[in-house]
This record gives sequence, structure tokens and C-alpha cells, in this order.
Amino acid sequence: MGKIQKLETLTALQIAAGEVIDRPAAVVREILENSIDAGASQIKIELFNGGVQKIILTDNGCGIAKEDLELSVERHATSKIQKITDLNDLTTLGFRGEALASIAAVARLCITSKPIEQEVAWQIKTDGLNRHQSSPSSGLEGTRIEVEDLFYLTPARRKFLKKANTEYTKVDAIIKKISLANLSFNLVFSNDNKIVRKIPLATSLKDAKDRIAAILGHDFSDQLYFGESELPEIRKIQAWIAHPKFSRARSDLQFIVLNNRVIKDPAISNAIKRAFEDVMMIGRYPALVLYLTIDPSIIDFNVHPTKEQVKFQDPQLITRAIVKFLKQHIQEILSIKSSIHESLMQETPSMDFQNIQSMSPTKVSRPQENISYNQLSPKPEESTHDMLGNTYQATSYKSPFVELSSPKPPLPQVSNNHHQKTQAVSLAILQNWLLHFLSVAAPKWNVDNVLQRKVVFDFLFSFLDQ
Ligand SMILES: Nc1ncnc2c1ncn2[C@@H]1O[C@H](COP(=O)(O)OP(=O)(O)OP(=O)(O)O)[C@@H](O)[C@H]1O
Ligand SMILES: [Mg+2]
Repeated sequence: MGKIQKLETLTALQIAAGEVIDRPAAVVREILENSIDAGASQIKIELFNGGVQKIILTDNGCGIAKEDLELSVERHATSKIQKITDLNDLTTLGFRGEALASIAAVARLCITSKPIEQEVAWQIKTDGLNRHQSSPSSGLEGTRIEVEDLFYLTPARRKFLKKANTEYTKVDAIIKKISLANLSFNLVFSNDNKIVRKIPLATSLKDAKDRIAAILGHDFSDQLYFGESELPEIRKIQAWIAHPKFSRARSDLQFIVLNNRVIKDPAISNAIKRAFEDVMMIGRYPALVLYLTIDPSIIDFNVHPTKEQVKFQDPQLITRAIVKFLKQHIQEILSIKSSIHESLMQETPSMDFQNIQSMSPTKVSRPQENISYNQLSPKPEESTHDMLGNTYQATSYKSPFVELSSPKPPLPQVSNNHHQKTQAVSLAILQNWLLHFLSVAAPKWNVDNVLQRKVVFDFLFSFLDQ
């Protein structure tokens, strides 16, 4: 007598949904990524009781057509890919066609949407396997997603949830990560009817810094330098790097963004550690946001339901490029005389990020390669080559800073005065010596010697200032 039986549809759906949706933060991740894929520039997220009671997202993206509404909540239904090879030039955050179906399997879902070309908004509601037929509804252009009573059909799962405040914190962390990785929308986030975060859209480097401040705080953003390189082996690396003096006891201010996703990758984290080892005390972690733009055909995001992990065709190629890039920029940061002085002498120094731009020999501005992604109006495709000899179509993939441009900073004024020149050279020599001292000797000192270090620096800088 056979023992195998097919699971009921809802049970199978709920098991599959468990991989994608485990808590309110996962719901927010999925619906926020959908809004970004839809090209939204205005997004509002409202959370009630940590998201367990209700989550509402409103966007002004491209919307879902009336005839697609029912399909949008079916498993394996997506507008983003058609065949497996489409993953090779993936330009969107979603691709599985699973998120809305998973949410529908574990919560009550209501979608109201109005694409620009549709006269009125239409709405669909789900309750378990039931679909309340789509019907005309009032609504502005864009999409409104309401997710209510998370895990109401699976009380056992609901018990795993933490207190509302803990769930809220996890939602906030996801919003922060996604907003760091994608800069093209304004976001307002409220918790129990109170606005807790406003994140401004970024269209310039200065805006990007303001956005980072809104996400990670001014303490962090005030320490940041921007650097970028276009490298054949990796397409593009950009980073906001905090002065090595601004180190952390944990790696909580280290973000790795790959093609608009914040990822976790031990090999890249290790590369960051190696790059900073000469300037960071043991047990301390640098703070930075690293943006990698890599040809999608040499990476695979389809390895984990949260898409936070990635497989690289040649991981060493990537990590070597990162170490080289970071080491070079760390040297530049340390070689800015005023920054050394300010950062070591002041508690909360403020750096002019344009300094790092003017000093960055690797910063290449090639406007013709600035491929901007806009789902509604993709730019014509271009073809290019990578270091592996692969030819690939430059997809409409968007680098986070690709559209950001800032006026070239003025070149430093060179003095004609002979005395001033000699002084500048002497200062430069002293500075180099200090730099060497800073990068080689000082980091080896342990924490107990901080006072001793301060005394020596105080002396050296007072000498330099004379
Ligand atoms: N806010 C939105 N605006 C416009 N279209 C949307 C929105 N949310 C979802 N959609 C549409 O519904 C479809 C299904 O969304 P769903 O999140 O389930 O799948 P996906 O994004 O394609 O893939 P993944 O499961 O990897 O997220 C999407 O492909 C998209 O066409
Ligand atoms: Mg999705």
C-alpha cells in the first residue's frame, strides 16, 4: 500500500512561501523591490504593530494592468524574465514570480493598481486560495499593496515572530539596506502612524551623501570619501569610505552592494579586511558602502531565496580588484593633509568629499558609458568586453551612481613664491613620513596605547603647523 500522497495546494503553497516570507521584514523587502522594479520615484511604507497586523506600501510606479492582476498573485508568474538565459542580463531585483504568491499564501493581500494608460484603478483581494475577482476601485497612478494578518493561517509560524518593536527594527534595517543600494526614489516610512524615516532621492553625489546621512546617520556620512574606478575585470567599483580612524567594533557599517542588491559575501568581507589591515587595529572594522557593478552574466543570484547571496564565476578576480581599489583609495584618504590633521585632532571631523574626487587618479568620467536604467524607456544597448574576453551587451543595468555627476572641483592653486614652494615640499616630506608612520606603525599599537599615540600625534602636528 503506497504511503505517498500529494500535498493540498494551500499546504504546498504555504511550505514554499516559508522560504521567502518568514517575517514582516521579508514582506517589506519583496514589495519594496517590486516598486523599485516598477520605476517608482515615490514610495510610502506604513507599518502597524510591527507589520504583523498590517503593512501598506504605496508607489507611483508603472502599475499592474487590470488583466494582469490575478496572474500577479500566482506562483511563477512574472513580467521580468521569460526564460532561464534571461538571468544572464538581469536588470531587475525580482525574477522568480514568487513573492506576491508567497505573501498571498500566508497573509490577506489586497492589490490596487492603476497603470498610466488605464482609466481607473482595479483591485484584487486574496484570502487563502480564494481570489476576490478584480474590480474597479479608486486609486491614483501606481500601486498600493496591503498585507494584513501575517501568518493568520499558520498560527505556529506566527509564534516565531518577536515583539512588535523588534519586528519594526528588522523592517527598518531592510528599508535601510534597499535604500542604500537603490538611490532613485523618495521614501517615507511610518510606524503606527508616526513617520520614522524620510529618505530623499539622490541625483547627484551630494544628494547621495545626504541619502546616506538619512539612512546611516550624520556621524557616519560626515566621515565619508567617495572614490570610483572603472575596471575591465569588474566594470565599476564605487565606494563611500570612512576615514580609517572611524572604525567599528563590529562590521555593522560595512555594506556590499552588488548590482543594486546588498549582499553578504564572506570572500568580499575578507577582501575589505585585507585592504584595511595596514591601517586598522586588530579587532576593529572599517565602515564603508561598496558598490560593485558587475556583468550579470558572470554572477548568479539564483542561489538563495532572499537573493542576498551570490555566486561569482571567478571570485578571486573580484576580490583582487576590490583589494587593489580599496588600498589605493585608503592611501589617498590618508594622504590628504588636512584630513589627517582634522581626523586625528578632532572628535568629529568633517571632510569635504570633493577632495577625494580631485585626488582620485582612477576616477574616469566616461559619459558615453553611463547607462541609465529606466524600465519604461530603456536606452539602446551597447556591446562591450570584459577581462575574460567575453563580449556582452551592456544591458540597461543601472549602476547606483551612473547618473550622478558633479562639477569638476577646481584644481589646487599653485603658488609662485619660492619660499612657499620650499615650505610645501618640506611639509609634503613630513606628511609622507607621517603617513608611513600612520599606516605602518600606529595600527600595530594596541588599544592601551591610545593615549600614548595621541601625545605623539599632538606633538607631530603642532610641529607641522609651525
Ligand atoms: N509595485 C508594483 N508595481 C508594478 N508591478 C508590480 C508591482 N508589484 C508586483 N508587480 C508585478 O507583479 C509581478 C509579480 O510580482 P512578484 O514579486 O510576485 O514576482 P517578481 O517580482 O517578478 O519576482 P520575485 O518573486 O523574484 O520577486 C511582477 O513581475 C510585476 O509584473
Ligand atoms: Mg518581486
